[in-house]
Amino acid sequence: MAKKKFYITTPIYYVNDRVHLGHAYTTIAADVLARYHRLKGDKVFFLTGTDEHGAKIEEAAKGLNKSPRQLCDENSQRFKNGWQRLNISYDNFIRTTDVNHKKAIAKALKVLHEKGLIYKGVYKGLYCLGCEQYKTKADLVDGKCPDHKIKPEVMEEESYLFKLSKFGKEIENRIKRDEFKIRPEERKPEILEFLKKGLKDISISRKKVKWGIPLPFEPELTAYVWVDALLNYLTGLGWQGDPRKIPEFWSAEVHLMAKDIFRVHATIWPALLLGLGISLPKKLFIHGYFTINRQKMSKSLGNVIWPEELIEKFGVDATRYLLLASFPFGRDGDISWKKLEEKYEADLAKGLGNLVARLLSLADKSEIKSEVLKIEEVKNTDFQKKIDEVQEKYKKALEEFKLNEALASIWELISFCDEYIEKNKLWEENESQKTSILYLLHTIANIANLLKPFLPETSEKILKQLGLEITEQKWIFNIKKSESLFPRMNPE
Ligand code: MSP
Repeated sequence: MAKKKFYITTPIYYVNDRVHLGHAYTTIAADVLARYHRLKGDKVFFLTGTDEHGAKIEEAAKGLNKSPRQLCDENSQRFKNGWQRLNISYDNFIRTTDVNHKKAIAKALKVLHEKGLIYKGVYKGLYCLGCEQYKTKADLVDGKCPDHKIKPEVMEEESYLFKLSKFGKEIENRIKRDEFKIRPEERKPEILEFLKKGLKDISISRKKVKWGIPLPFEPELTAYVWVDALLNYLTGLGWQGDPRKIPEFWSAEVHLMAKDIFRVHATIWPALLLGLGISLPKKLFIHGYFTINRQKMSKSLGNVIWPEELIEKFGVDATRYLLLASFPFGRDGDISWKKLEEKYEADLAKGLGNLVARLLSLADKSEIKSEVLKIEEVKNTDFQKKIDEVQEKYKKALEEFKLNEALASIWELISFCDEYIEKNKLWEENESQKTSILYLLHTIANIANLLKPFLPETSEKILKQLGLEITEQKWIFNIKKSESLFPRMNPE
């Protein structure tokens, strides 16, 4: 049977900023899903990258006395370093300043122009430079962009407009019919409401912005940064701008993002694709936004938590765990140093780490070193029943992108083991305990397998300590105890 394709993307991040926890959150989640689908045997392509053009980057560079090129090179490298540190298994890292990307965008714009979908006119409307997005009066709170707390500028210039208005109805219908999926479902009404009012044509050219891709039909003007950015989802697969030659991985199974960029992805992006005659992505998944101590993370409030600070304190795998386990993936949530420390202590140090260490000590005491467990033997036990039940829950949760629920199901298995040890007083030596310990080692090996997409290094460490070898009928253990997985922060 042909392998199932799974193409997943993160937003491409603006390079005016260094990697912050919000970027890390989306990217770790995408990594977990990519790893899960690879393990399942799917043919996976995982794309991330950086969004490098536009007025915002031009201004940031000016403020730092750097050329835009220098700022982009430095900061995109920081993103790459950050992702390497966090063990992100992307297949491609796209930069919108890549020559291939720029050529493809110029070609695509030419196609749209020739089709009459880009025309010259005067654009008048509100624009927030912070989001590089068009705004309506209804979007503003006290006259300001609610995300950036700045007054949008009134943009009025002769420019090239894209016939966005032509596609609103079609997009609305596809969302309604669930052909273009919006998840979680509760996000659907807001976009349908917006589409119902009708879409306005937007300006896709810039006179004043020099740091951008020149329009092929009027090269003194540059392309609106979102047109350039959205098409990364195709150029990141090697697309060269020809609508008849679509990369084999298209279309995307899912684009992950937060609510700040949901609307552009549900309007301009599908409209560009419809205009080019290219199929739409299958799904947009809008995950939650997190706040720190109930406030928006911001440098001026001084409450920013940088990913490297978390890694420094807790380690890479714990950082991945703490971010994803702290709140449901599709909902907003709040984090704080205190909550993260408590969760580390409870779930990782006293939870998973302690269970593995405890069991390996019990194995040592019972002189279990090299043992063989026949699958047949464990098949009808309560252990296997619990493993099957958890595997089922885990799979269902991951198919629905409920990442924290998938983690919770693994922790259910951890608690099951802890309770079993307590209830049966496994530390009291006697011969019959040996079989239970072996079954528990088998359960831990299953836990390690389930952890693979989330905590890849920890999973490998556990499997190494168990010295596990699996054949069709047997699980063979060669126990080698080593250092603790998650040291206690505050040992009593
Ligand atoms: N460059 C555009 C995206 C273009 S995609 C074709 C952009 N970049 S960004 O650097 O601002 O990244 C926004 C994304 O970062 C969000 O959609 C989300 O994925 C992530 N997050 C940023 N802050 C976040 C939180 N506080 N919480 C959760 N995710 C956050 O927009």
